[in-house]
Amino acid sequence: MSSARVIDGKAVAAQVRADIAKKVEALKSAHGFTPGLAVVLVGEDPASQVYVRNKGQQTKEVGMNSIEHKLPAETSEADLLALVENLNNDDSINGILVQLPLPKHINSEKVLNTINPDKDVDGFHPTNVGRLWVGEPALAPCTPTGSVILAKSVQENLTGMNAVIIGRSNIVGKPMAALLLRENCTVTVAHSRTKDIASVVKGADLVIAAVGIAEFVKGDWIKPGAIVIDVGINRVEVPGGKAKLKGDVDYAAAAEVAGAITPVPGGVGPMTIACLLKNTLQAAQMQRGLEITA
Ligand code: GUN
Repeated sequence: MSSARVIDGKAVAAQVRADIAKKVEALKSAHGFTPGLAVVLVGEDPASQVYVRNKGQQTKEVGMNSIEHKLPAETSEADLLALVENLNNDDSINGILVQLPLPKHINSEKVLNTINPDKDVDGFHPTNVGRLWVGEPALAPCTPTGSVILAKSVQENLTGMNAVIIGRSNIVGKPMAALLLRENCTVTVAHSRTKDIASVVKGADLVIAAVGIAEFVKGDWIKPGAIVIDVGINRVEVPGGKAKLKGDVDYAAAAEVAGAITPVPGGVGPMTIACLLKNTLQAAQMQRGLEITA
């Protein structure tokens, strides 16, 4: 019998988008301009094509302009860098996202570091990483931002909580640590090499699983009543059946002990694009010197 409250990421993401749509409308009527998000896709990776299509649709649904640049897989690094420079210099573009992964002949780091940090809605540019850690207004990565919103949908004030993040990636684990420190949590960053990880996680009031290994976090690692946010999306082959999506947490077992838990799919996943739109609105407001309401 599962006892945990199931955190509905789809519903929370829909609320975030509705809030953004209202603020975009307010921006249009007060200042007569519409934020624009440019998404650049190089090549034909099927998963990336789905993400880009969803981003485009949701961008338009909140009333912002969506500009898509779809380039062939053979595009040279120089041509991609030139496109990014053009977008940097285009005042109608407030946010730029270059979809990853890029083809192997292109240096992703070089491309991401060419994006104007003020338009870097992924929050991957070292300037934004620095701004986030020193507490300046920053564009923060979307997945950790969405995870914090989900945790706060259960408990508005996270102050004093013992938060254990499992995973130390630049995209999730590390920015998550900065965001949770900003929420006054006591933060531990554990990872695949952490000694006696079970007992580390056992001390957590808030568990963020972002290690990228299906069902790595076991049910008996969870402290009774803890909030569990599962960032993992792992495709697991089922013999003779369709592949299933599994999180980084053994959901059935963890749901028996946790106070609240995100499902996979339907938890953190839907929050990522919602937070991308939030970042685009924030970027537009910052570029125009307006109050940040995003
Ligand atoms: N590919 C998969 N997720 C992401 C993301 O959040 N940002 C970018 N740029 N590429 C991705």
